[in-house]
Amino acid sequence: MKIGIDSIAFSTSRYFLSLETLAKHRNVNYEKYNVGIGQAKMSVFPPNEDIVTIAIDAAQKVISQMDDKNDIDILIFATESAFDLSKSAGIYVHHFLKLKEDCRVFDLKQACYSAVAALQLAKSYIVDNPNSKVLIIGSDIIKYSPNTSGEPTQGGAAVAFIVTQNPRILEIEPYAGIHTVDVMDFWRPSHLDEALFDGKLSAYNYLKSLDICVDRYWKKSNLAISAIDHVCFHAPFGKMAQKANNKLFRCPSINETLIYNSVIGNSCSASLFICFISLLDNVKDDISHKRIGFFSYGSGSVAEFFSGIIPENYGQTLDTRNNLKMLSDRIEIAISEYELLYNNKFHDGYHYENVGNITMLGINNNQRIYRRLQNN
Ligand code: HMG
Repeated sequence: MKIGIDSIAFSTSRYFLSLETLAKHRNVNYEKYNVGIGQAKMSVFPPNEDIVTIAIDAAQKVISQMDDKNDIDILIFATESAFDLSKSAGIYVHHFLKLKEDCRVFDLKQACYSAVAALQLAKSYIVDNPNSKVLIIGSDIIKYSPNTSGEPTQGGAAVAFIVTQNPRILEIEPYAGIHTVDVMDFWRPSHLDEALFDGKLSAYNYLKSLDICVDRYWKKSNLAISAIDHVCFHAPFGKMAQKANNKLFRCPSINETLIYNSVIGNSCSASLFICFISLLDNVKDDISHKRIGFFSYGSGSVAEFFSGIIPENYGQTLDTRNNLKMLSDRIEIAISEYELLYNNKFHDGYHYENVGNITMLGINNNQRIYRRLQNN
């Protein structure tokens, strides 16, 4: 049975900060951010937008492609940006999408790796329940303290995809190379909004895990490098993915995989899949029947290399024009606005837009209040 991704979409904030602006403000040569790190812009989030509102927007796009949303039996919300240690962020999404009550909903966490864990779990579930569909969401907003080396790699986005049998976008293959090791390279204690990290250790462990995972993948699959046509990497910043690609694969299409990431920034659990959408939308050739390698790395750490085959006619499900429009329609903010938004505060005289039709009105009695916007 062929199982994999049937439709996929992403969403991000309406606002961005140019890294040229940040470089000027921090007195850093812009070339360091643009060439050295490989990033041009980063998504910045207003207080009315969070991991739930962008997740709903991404999920609405994939659900609009389904004949019957009642086929969704499981919703998995992969995130490391949870604002509640008990209630699943997925329940808000389930509510606003009006999914059936007979549906399992839960969050999954392991840094940037969790959406891949969700995908592999969903695949096993579909083996036993071939008519079922699983909605997976990866949604994260990442913050580092101002003036740290991580600051230009901030960002955020949500990806949503439906896992089914006979998928139209990607058939997941049965073998994967996995590597789990206890490393303190990146972590966010529950009382902090900003992530803490050891940048050099994280980059070292990312590349070491890649070697180990790929080696295990070759052994399990009996494939060789020539069997992989394109590779998508988790991209905390573009240069990390370029280094990984140069180390083992040297795929020229690495540039196409990084187009969206370079203007969004690190989107953690969504990042690998946004690189995949970027490849699908921007690669010139028809990539039907090609094998795509995927490398996921979640600090802490768990890493996995797996692969999938692109089915015939995959192009019919893509929404390239709207993806490009969503990114090009974003609003650039000044450094003063970035500093205000960093603290997640509404302020006088400013009305913030949402990317989709759900907004976060505020927090009352420690409860998040979401509303559907009236003109939608
Ligand atoms: P840094 O230490 O400020 O940068 O931050 P650097 O001094 O190492 O310079 C970066 C690159 O820019 C270097 O190139 C410089 O040569 C170059 P490289 O040696 O790497 O090839 N450079 C220039 N290039 C052109 N013109 C110039 C110029 N100046 C310098 N003028 C660091 C880099 C990655 C450490 C930082 O961004 C950081 O700490 N980021 C946060 C952690 C991170 O993203 N780690 C990545 C792996 S871990 C991961 O992927 C998991 C994660 O997503 C979290 C999760 O799983 O949840 C983070």
